[in-house]
Amino acid sequence: MKVLVTYSSLTGNTQKVAEGIYEGIQAEVKDIKPMKEVTELDSYDVVLAGYWVDKGGPNEEAKKFLERLEGKKVGIFATLGYWPDTEHGWNSLMNGEEVVKEKNQVIAKYICQGKLNDSIIARFEKLPADNPHAITEEKRRRYAVAKNHPSEADIAHAAELFCERLSTNV
Ligand SMILES: Cc1cc2nc3c(=O)[nH]c(=O)nc-3n(C[C@H](O)[C@H](O)[C@H](O)COP(=O)(O)O)c2cc1C
Repeated sequence: MKVLVTYSSLTGNTQKVAEGIYEGIQAEVKDIKPMKEVTELDSYDVVLAGYWVDKGGPNEEAKKFLERLEGKKVGIFATLGYWPDTEHGWNSLMNGEEVVKEKNQVIAKYICQGKLNDSIIARFEKLPADNPHAITEEKRRRYAVAKNHPSEADIAHAAELFCERLSTNV
């Protein structure tokens, strides 16, 4: 079994999860690469693809990558700024699955929170109160929590999940 772990990551959160998954899985051959460096897919049986959530789904680069997949066992993982255990969180993961599920077999999926970039928070801080992205106390507290993610526990959980599912999908 040959496994590719690949990711699209602007600020490193999704990359951290990808690296944890790569370390945690067992396969005859395993590779890890950012999506932009993946030229060849034919030789892989399994592709574990990670993205950062943009507008409630896979970011553009990841969406294009996921559309390329055909006939693979696919695992999907993602990081997002909002709470993962909400409709928005779950839909953000399902919207990635939606892209691949017709032409591939989805074997596992995982989503966790990821720190919001400080420059984005600084931009939000300057917005007028009636702007939907304006900072509120609730958001400030949420961003403070997000700073701790992906945590060691998030990464360990993702690694365990994909390791287990690979072992049952040989
Ligand atoms: C342009 C932009 C759009 C985003 N859209 C969402 C979103 O719709 N929902 C959400 O929960 N987080 C959103 N986020 C937060 C990121 O998904 C989150 O911080 C993620 O962990 C970043 O991952 P990365 O470090 O791998 O780039 C957005 C961030 C950016 C920069």
